[in-house]
Amino acid sequence: MEPFDRIRRHTVVAATPLVPELRLHLITAECALWHATEAEAQAAGVPEPYWAFAWPGGQALARFVLDTPALVRGRRVLDCGTGSAIEGLAALRAGAASVLAADLDPLAGAAATLNAALNGVSGLSTTTEDLVGTKPAVDVVLAGDVFYDRELAARGLAWLRALAGSGVEVYAGDPSRGFLDVSTLEPVACYAATHDGELDPARVRPTTVFRIR
Ligand SMILES: C[S@@+](CC[C@H](N)C(=O)[O-])C[C@H]1O[C@@H](n2cnc3c(N)ncnc32)[C@H](O)[C@@H]1O
Repeated sequence: MEPFDRIRRHTVVAATPLVPELRLHLITAECALWHATEAEAQAAGVPEPYWAFAWPGGQALARFVLDTPALVRGRRVLDCGTGSAIEGLAALRAGAASVLAADLDPLAGAAATLNAALNGVSGLSTTTEDLVGTKPAVDVVLAGDVFYDRELAARGLAWLRALAGSGVEVYAGDPSRGFLDVSTLEPVACYAATHDGELDPARVRPTTVFRIR
């Protein structure tokens, strides 16, 4: 089954309480895959579907961008570790000139494309290239909930700092997973985002948007 059909088959369309403006193809408690084992998800052709959840870091970044549109208006944005592309879609909604949605998982690119169509935004392109360490031609980088393991957090932060040093504006959303050294980061906003993968407004975790300089 081709990727778009697989995504449509295993998800429902829903929005998070923090970002009701954006509808996404998500795996929720009403989906069979919510209860599936890793092996079952693999057999269904959707292994490790990070793209099927709106993670707290992405929710917070999306809210921040929608409420502060001048940050992205008319600018080229890289959404690194895009998943569902919640923050990239928010940037397009806020008037970004373009969004490059980057994720190593090709299904994330397909989900981002479907979600862009669902929300009627244009200007999104996708890549599966690992851009960490490169110098992409963008003005703003959004990194939503990408600091979820120690190695990625260290490598990602060093790269994002280097980009910021070269004049790119860099924002990261992070729910304190414990891998990000925030001691030198500038918090610019904090939100109550729904807990990992959940949509219940009563189950939240505080999530900070940092500007990385
Ligand atoms: C926890 S999800 C966050 C998705 C989305 N930003 C959000 O907040 O809802 C992290 C994503 O980062 C992606 N990822 C991990 N390492 C990456 C890399 N080096 N380049 C691009 N994406 C990466 C994973 O495949 C995954 O989809």
